[in-house]
Amino acid sequence: MIKDFLLNMPRSIIFGPGKRKEIPALLQVYGDRVLLVTGQRWFKVSRFNSEFQAMLKNFKIEHLCCPAGEPTSCGVEELLAAARSFDPHIILAVGGGSVLDTAKTISGLLPLKDRVVDFLEGVGRGLTIPGPGVPWIAMPTTSGTGAEATRNAVIRSVESSAKKSIRSSYLLAGQVVVDPELTLECPREVSGMAGLDALTQLIEAYVSRKAAVVPQALIRDALPVMLDSLLKIALNPANLEARSGAAYSSLISGLALANSGLGAAHGFASGLGGMAAIPHGLICALFLRPVLKANAELINSDLELLLRPAGYAQKGSGGAVEWHSAKVEKLLEAFNLPLTLSGYNLDRGLIPEMARRSSGSSMSGNPRELSREEREEIICRMI
Ligand SMILES: [Fe+2]
Repeated sequence: MIKDFLLNMPRSIIFGPGKRKEIPALLQVYGDRVLLVTGQRWFKVSRFNSEFQAMLKNFKIEHLCCPAGEPTSCGVEELLAAARSFDPHIILAVGGGSVLDTAKTISGLLPLKDRVVDFLEGVGRGLTIPGPGVPWIAMPTTSGTGAEATRNAVIRSVESSAKKSIRSSYLLAGQVVVDPELTLECPREVSGMAGLDALTQLIEAYVSRKAAVVPQALIRDALPVMLDSLLKIALNPANLEARSGAAYSSLISGLALANSGLGAAHGFASGLGGMAAIPHGLICALFLRPVLKANAELINSDLELLLRPAGYAQKGSGGAVEWHSAKVEKLLEAFNLPLTLSGYNLDRGLIPEMARRSSGSSMSGNPRELSREEREEIICRMI
């Protein structure tokens, strides 16, 4: 019997190397006032910059550069004020997950008067987005967060130092253009952390308590592609076939998390990420291993089926959980990423607070409840 489900996804997705060239035709449908949202660096120094300038020359462009790092409520507020005074017909976001989440927030809140923080889950006034905002087009330049396909934007609240989401199906992109060539310039280390984030999203969405049948079917296909592509990117970041595989799998991870939720690794990423500037993908990758172990009894048989096409064959002890954890470790090493967070010198006295903050909405999708003691113990081992 197929379980009931609700599927939220962008209206249209265009995928393939070179598909960025379709941007002018896509923009024209909406009008000529285009709010271009990018990061500080990639767009300026990219070899694609002149190509974008040529594609956008017939439009009235207001270009907003997002501050470096993950979006903050204050930073987005400033960009939102500039966006409101420009009054765009369409928003074009070209960048990584932070840029896409910023554009998504601007899209939803531009017609409203309230502050960004008022919409943040758990810390704001609990306001919800009442209807469609300004349409936006998502063009990811990294393969990791899947933010191009999700209906939530993750923002750090400056007032409460917590990373929280604004969530609404009205935040979904009207168009997603995934052109894997745009990810070729993504630095190796960033590619590793972003890719491991997507890998974590695929696994957590697959075994989530809220797992939906359509994302599960997509994940079965995408997970082996992601494992294979990441190893190839670590060896050769210029491998377009691998970049294409990672871009596809990352997109699927976004569709999956938007419709199935996540799990405890993302719960920890939300808790620790709000308290210290540690890359999201790194926390996810590091915490996925102890989280899989904690869930092992409940997920091993599902994981076996999922991992067989990726080469898992039952041998020795530990089963699929151990097999996958070893793969993650191999990927961390291949990208020269650390195996713990000890290099961040986190204050061990804050472990109880980190554990308390790690019980947010992602944790509720975890196959089983992790007690406060279990969360503290896992954090203690990882920092
Ligand atoms: Fe993530």
